Amino acid sequence: MSYFTSGLAATLIGVVTFTAACGGRTETPATDTASAVATTPTAAAAASGGWTYDQNKALEGYVVCTTCHQVSGLGTEGTYPPLAGSDIVQGDPARVVAIILHGLQGELNVGGKKYNNVMTPWGGVFDDTQIANIATYIRSQWGNSASQVTPDLVAKVRAATSSRTAAWTWPEVEKFTVQP
Ligand code: HEC
Repeated sequence: MSYFTSGLAATLIGVVTFTAACGGRTETPATDTASAVATTPTAAAAASGGWTYDQNKALEGYVVCTTCHQVSGLGTEGTYPPLAGSDIVQGDPARVVAIILHGLQGELNVGGKKYNNVMTPWGGVFDDTQIANIATYIRSQWGNSASQVTPDLVAKVRAATSSRTAAWTWPEVEKFTVQP
């Protein structure tokens, strides 16, 4: 396992222990890899039809993304685009889910920097709930501030794109959306 992966796992254990000791998520301190979500669990559940985002599960899933996008969400300039501060990550949630499900390739501009690389698909690895957790995580970390993504939206995007076999190009995914 890489330094980043084991570091994240150690942090995750630390977060779980700390949260348990304090008796609640609202006590969790803000760190690089785990900061408290902006909304309270109750408010978030109301806004998402009863579903509650699970940050610990999100962190378990986000480990696979750190290989390229890093624990910091900053990626590697010229090779792996940043998720931190990305307009794509904080834009239409259906697009974020579509990218995670099927991957992305070709020319891309993130934060004024150019990329032309390939992201592998994750739709066969994670179920709808876990993709919702990961998407919510990247939309609410590192100063990012965008709405929760629900398993219901992931299911809709999965159904709408079920015939897709290749990774998206940006011009394709830029036009994609589904009704929430
Ligand atoms: C194998 C390396 C790799 C892994 C693992 C990976 N990505 Fe990516 N990701 C990329 C690359 C490369 C691009 C840009 C593709 C291009 O140039 O068109 C990208 C683009 C993105 C984008 C859109 C661009 C941006 O920066 O906002 C999002 C969102 C994203 N990835 C999320 C994720 C998430 C979430 C995971 C984990 C489930 C993940 N990626 C795992 C390599 C990876």
